[in-house]
Amino acid sequence: MQERNLIYQADCMEMFQNIPSASVDLVIADPPYYHIKGAFDFIFQSVSEYLEWCRGWVGECYRILKPTGAFYCWGSSQMIDRLSVEVLDQFGWLKRNLIVWNYKTGKPMKTAYRNETEFLWFYSNALHEISQDKIRIPYCAGGEKDKRKNPKGKTCGNVWESPRIMPNYKEATEHPTQKPEKLAERIILASSKPGDLVVIPFAGSGSEIVQSIRSGRDFLASEINALYVDQIILPRLEKEFGPAEGRWSILTGN
Ligand SMILES: C[S@@+](CC[C@H](N)C(=O)[O-])C[C@H]1O[C@@H](n2cnc3c(N)ncnc32)[C@H](O)[C@@H]1O
Repeated sequence: MQERNLIYQADCMEMFQNIPSASVDLVIADPPYYHIKGAFDFIFQSVSEYLEWCRGWVGECYRILKPTGAFYCWGSSQMIDRLSVEVLDQFGWLKRNLIVWNYKTGKPMKTAYRNETEFLWFYSNALHEISQDKIRIPYCAGGEKDKRKNPKGKTCGNVWESPRIMPNYKEATEHPTQKPEKLAERIILASSKPGDLVVIPFAGSGSEIVQSIRSGRDFLASEINALYVDQIILPRLEKEFGPAEGRWSILTGN
């Protein structure tokens, strides 16, 4: 069986080279958004260069997914439409949902409405099913008293309300675009099972890695920035789970 629970300190394309086709249950991709935040967003000279780059790694995500597999990709309002139409739709998977993350805060603007959302595309292969019972959410006050309603809560919709990470949160790191663990947890519980393999091409601060380990999934992750790996991901994993002791390892790229 393929070695698992590896963090490649490398370009994600190096990690993909080592992953056989149709072998992965879930991909959670949180790529650079293009000219929004973080130095990694600004390395692209043009939108077409950015979309061309996305075609490369998205094609690899499509190749490695099992027929039961699911693919989630984060994006912001300025690019999620082009990313979807010009890149994600070009592969043979099914477009399932555009999930809206509503964090309810954001900078006021004179020329536009306040941006309080980011977006998450959910595509999957034909045989994928969501574990609805793992991600049920509470009914609005009083709704749970209706005997026809499911006592475990209502099924999860495509608007996810959850705050952004504030500096005083326990999970906060120095990474400029860290995603809340709660969001990673919901994706993982919905679209994978214990022992499944989750691929995380853009690990950043490691939120998706933490939740994979916590939920008993295996993972393969890559992060190109050595400082994020050494100074954020590894200390975070040790803080959460104690010394690695063979539970995860680092591979350094070329
Ligand atoms: C949006 S952040 C991911 C944040 C992550 N979801 C978290 O919660 O911390 C994108 C990350 O991708 C990394 N990155 C950019 N290009 C990459 C590449 N070609 N291969 C691997 N990682 C890359 C950046 O250094 C950055 O940390």
